[in-house]
Amino acid sequence: MLFGDAKSSARSVEEIEVIEKDRRRFLSLIPLAVFGVIAASVGGAAKKFLEPAAAAAESTEAAAGGGWLSLGMVKELTGDDPIERVVAVERNAGWTKSIEDATVFVLPKHDNKVLSSVCPHEGCPVVWDAETKNFLCPCHDSYFSDCGSKLSGPSTTDLTELETRVADGELQVKV
Ligand code: FES
Repeated sequence: MLFGDAKSSARSVEEIEVIEKDRRRFLSLIPLAVFGVIAASVGGAAKKFLEPAAAAAESTEAAAGGGWLSLGMVKELTGDDPIERVVAVERNAGWTKSIEDATVFVLPKHDNKVLSSVCPHEGCPVVWDAETKNFLCPCHDSYFSDCGSKLSGPSTTDLTELETRVADGELQVKV
């Protein structure tokens, strides 16, 4: 009986050692678990923070068909005078996006060249002057020819020609 008690007492010591080892192993894992939780939280927050910009960039491309905006069917763009078109351009500024109207001029007389309506001098919108058959910037009286070449006034350069393409019979522009 006494021998049996000593044996069971020895087992208890072994069991206690095993339990102690398990406890130490468990405690050693706690910092890793805490680190994992923190890393997951930071990762989730970073993903949320970065996703809007990526989504906005994707939606800009999708909405504008890769940045190309329609100006209408080529066969409908006719005449001697420039045709004014307003296109909706999605702008991304940091984490915000907005849609702005941009006015451009299609020049059927000049092989459907497309000009920006922004005056190169200080950015006022130019208008088509049907009487003189020139573009006029009313801010400081810069004049440009019917193909956008600088004629007179403070502007030192021509109106900006925009990149265009024809896709499925449609004239498209990048603004
Ligand atoms: S902004 Fe057009 S002439 Fe000055």
